[in-house]
Amino acid sequence: MNSLPVSFSKKAIRTPESPISQFMELALSSPHLISLAAGMVDGGSLPAGPIASAVSSILNDPKTARAALQYGTTQGYGPLIGHIVEHVAKLDGKTPKELGVSVKDVLVTTGSQQLLYMLSELLLDAGDIVITESPSYFVYHSVLAGNGTRVLTVPMDDDGMITDELDILLEKLDRAGELQRVKLIYTVDYFQNPTGLTLSLERRKHLVEIVEKYAKKQRILILEDAAYRELRYEGDELPSVKSFDPKNQHVIYAGTFSKPCAPGLKTGYALMPNELIEPMVRLKGNHDFGSNNLSQHIICKLLETGDYSRHVEYLRGVYRQKRDAMMQALDAEFGDWLGVYWTRPKGGMFVWLTLPAEIETSPGSKFVKAALKEGVLYIPGEFGHVSESGHVPKNEARLSFGDATPKQIHEGMQRLRKAADSVLKTEAMASGAA
Ligand SMILES: Cc1ncc(COP(=O)(O)O)c(C=O)c1O
Repeated sequence: MNSLPVSFSKKAIRTPESPISQFMELALSSPHLISLAAGMVDGGSLPAGPIASAVSSILNDPKTARAALQYGTTQGYGPLIGHIVEHVAKLDGKTPKELGVSVKDVLVTTGSQQLLYMLSELLLDAGDIVITESPSYFVYHSVLAGNGTRVLTVPMDDDGMITDELDILLEKLDRAGELQRVKLIYTVDYFQNPTGLTLSLERRKHLVEIVEKYAKKQRILILEDAAYRELRYEGDELPSVKSFDPKNQHVIYAGTFSKPCAPGLKTGYALMPNELIEPMVRLKGNHDFGSNNLSQHIICKLLETGDYSRHVEYLRGVYRQKRDAMMQALDAEFGDWLGVYWTRPKGGMFVWLTLPAEIETSPGSKFVKAALKEGVLYIPGEFGHVSESGHVPKNEARLSFGDATPKQIHEGMQRLRKAADSVLKTEAMASGAA
């Protein structure tokens, strides 16, 4: 006898299939494909040696071995939390006190993704509003969709989120009596995934001023996702948005060791207004009562020995070469095309490509098919947009230089150009025939 279908929760039904999973599967199952799609970090530079030394030093001492292999505390491994506070303050050229944070304001998470997810549980009821940049990190959009959150967006330019537009949007929501639904403003403010754009210094300050302005009417928190912050290849360091919040009231700073160290360790962290810590620890208790303890001990050791900062320095050199390769390849293949432009990121691993309007990049489009035939993969730009705010551009693409070698990047871009040429040729033939 056949059973009835399983009846899933509303949340499970609302949660969309990961838009890029099929692209990832394609990349993994077709070795001839050059993937400029994956958000993977560079495989060849993963710090196996330093991690092996850290593991052996932890496990060869019975005391540290027992501590690392036992359950830890829900908030995170104390010595690691101490290093995290020092580390972020140092990135800002400040002491923890000047930054307005202490070890009591930190939560260690299973990657920063867990933080993004848990914050939605902590702060958002269905119908509440989160404001994001447009485009933005599509996996976060998926978290919000599952949660029944309304997502409103603010456009970006070369200086990141246009904060004047954010101000206008909040005024509009205030007039419409909807301000009370606005809980979070989400920014990936360093070398954004997906565009590679970075929020300018002035706008960092402005962002905090905006939420301060509304703080008496509605406490709106800024979620600063600094996942790519440490991967800078040129230009001066920029202070965090968090650094403009010295009373630690408005900004949640999300960091991760995935990008600058190893995603396999799956360790992230948040520095946040202290009143959020206790409720977050309660929620995290229900999730997992603490992130992987061994990973936390390993990272702590890497920070202690200096291996971490040496690795980040090395990594910057590796990615700088790849970023340069992608810029050169784009210039070589698309430099002569009117109506094709792309971002020039100073860090991170993403470039945002805009093609002429007649080349649609959507899944199932002629261009995707042509690119697959040529053997190259990109992420359709529309995945980064949400539709409530109206227009979704169909001619954009996210390109990643994270995983491919410089040689593959050049080859991949030649293939992309061939794919674009073939689409235009068939379009021209079709219109000629019409
Ligand atoms: C912008 C952004 N935030 C957060 C994450 C989550 O990373 P993790 O959970 O590995 O720290 C990613 C991963 O790609 C990302 O691109």
